[in-house]
Amino acid sequence: MNASVLTAVAWPYANGPRHIGHVSGFGVPSDIFSRYQRMAGNRVLMVSGTDENGTPIQVQADAEGITPRQLADKYNRLIVEDLQGLGLSYDLFTRTTTANHARVVQDVFLALYRNGYILTKKALGAISPSTGRTLPDRYIEGTCPICGYDGARGDQCDNCGNQLDPADLINPRSRINGEVPQFVETEHLFLDLPAFTGALGSWLQTRTEWRPNVLKFSLHLLDDLRPRPITRDLDWGVRVPLDGWRDAPMKRFYVWFDACMGYLSASVEWAHRVGNPDAWQEWWNDPNARSYYFMGKDNITFHTVIWPATLLGQNGAGDRGGQSGKFGVLNLPTEIVSSEFLTMSGSKFSTSRGTVIYVGDFLREFGPDTLRYFISVAGPETQDTDFTWDEFVRRINFELANEWGNLINRSISMAHRNVGAVPRPSTRHPVDAELLTTSRAAFDTIGDLLERNRFKAAITEAMRVVGAANKYLSEQEPWKRADDPARRDTILHTALQVVSDANTLLTPFLPHAAQRVHEQLGGTGVWSAQPEIRKVSELVEGEGPDYPVITGNYAAEQARWASVPIEVGRPLAKPTPLFTKLDPELAQTGPGWAPIEPAP
Ligand code: MF3
Ligand code: ZN
Repeated sequence: MNASVLTAVAWPYANGPRHIGHVSGFGVPSDIFSRYQRMAGNRVLMVSGTDENGTPIQVQADAEGITPRQLADKYNRLIVEDLQGLGLSYDLFTRTTTANHARVVQDVFLALYRNGYILTKKALGAISPSTGRTLPDRYIEGTCPICGYDGARGDQCDNCGNQLDPADLINPRSRINGEVPQFVETEHLFLDLPAFTGALGSWLQTRTEWRPNVLKFSLHLLDDLRPRPITRDLDWGVRVPLDGWRDAPMKRFYVWFDACMGYLSASVEWAHRVGNPDAWQEWWNDPNARSYYFMGKDNITFHTVIWPATLLGQNGAGDRGGQSGKFGVLNLPTEIVSSEFLTMSGSKFSTSRGTVIYVGDFLREFGPDTLRYFISVAGPETQDTDFTWDEFVRRINFELANEWGNLINRSISMAHRNVGAVPRPSTRHPVDAELLTTSRAAFDTIGDLLERNRFKAAITEAMRVVGAANKYLSEQEPWKRADDPARRDTILHTALQVVSDANTLLTPFLPHAAQRVHEQLGGTGVWSAQPEIRKVSELVEGEGPDYPVITGNYAAEQARWASVPIEVGRPLAKPTPLFTKLDPELAQTGPGWAPIEPAP
């Protein structure tokens, strides 16, 4: 059927290295999904990048004593390396500080503006009484009016995650010198959300496939929509393309307003880079295309209300009508795939609190597929989940190594030793046929689960096929059949066919191991393609510095979502073990770079 599938992955802030909580929310699930969709024959466009504008970047740059540009460059590079190392198969992973992104944001904004969905309102802005100058939002702190947390910032409370206005804070004070800011009237631009109540409501009513809690939460937000500020008092971000605003030193778009548009700007950038500047339209303008957005649960509001409202406004399809802008009529999200939080010993997995396990450290010590396996089988898919080294060690040693690794190793070793090639089967017994039926049937079952983003259930099914094959070998005992080589070869052939099938079923989850299993089964060429890092220039040469992107040639891969008969007579070499067992000690101590804290 060849559907066009947009995989839109949340953009990590370039304000620090990413930890395994981040990639378990947006990263690994979106990659499993995309790899499956490609294997199923669909046309996937997977885009994202680093989120580099606004307060989150400016605040961290201040903390590190460098400029926001230096900070964004530093963490963009680190994050690109981590995500590529994890094997996340982006068609384009870019950044929000490109000239292309700024242009797309400004074009979408102008369409909203012309269609009457932008309000200019006086709001209270803070100035420093001692200098008389604008006090940027991030330099104001106080008590959160919603949760009572005392360290809330002028734009956001880090404790409850709510967006704030500096004027909402109780006991506001300047972080520079402690003085109480003075609030004076200043102009800001607002997205007129109430003008989308009807359009958003009718659209949300059609989203019956969404997880009930996401849908209910989003519909509930419609009960009280208020105009939302989309500009901020700061000097790091996308400029506002209006007279009087363009050159204002302290007015930029709010980071969330520009970041969501990254999905579109990255698609446009990708199209230019593949030499077909209109190619993005296939995923954005064709009403049959589907779009799946992957994120942690703290991002839901932005993707189910604010971003759809922005799209509707650009399309001229809010309650006030209008005309579609430069990008034509853009598709709204088909599906929102949100995950819960990965916690460590009960506290939110946050860089600001307690032990952190960084992706880079993890990859260096354990490689990508162990982390991918853990996240798939034990990640925070439907509930907050605690990461423990104990569980990690158990899952890797008893499941990945003992079950899957052992099945591969013993079946290929025996075939190698006895035949030196894929053996020829003779008449199969019912047990053989039964096992083959099990593994073939798994393609539909697991495909259906992956289609619905049920990753944990999907990998569990795949591991059931592995378990069935191990049980079959233990019962059929091919190693005791020296006197009946025909029967032995039939058993080995059956086992190898199931190894091949299981490898296909596990490819979206374990793409690095899958390539090696393909080779150990005598296959050649690219089974599962991996992303690469490429240094590129701005689309318009000279508009900015060169930067690294993640991209890849995924069309080159052979993996298809189907059982492929293994080729009798194909030579088999002696296999080397694919998964090394972890030292059980690790369960007690953790690694040196993230030791388990002794209980107080
Ligand atoms: N940077 C945000 C976060 O880490 C996510 C932005 S997603 C986007 O929470 F869609 F807005 F880009
Ligand atoms: Zn709060």
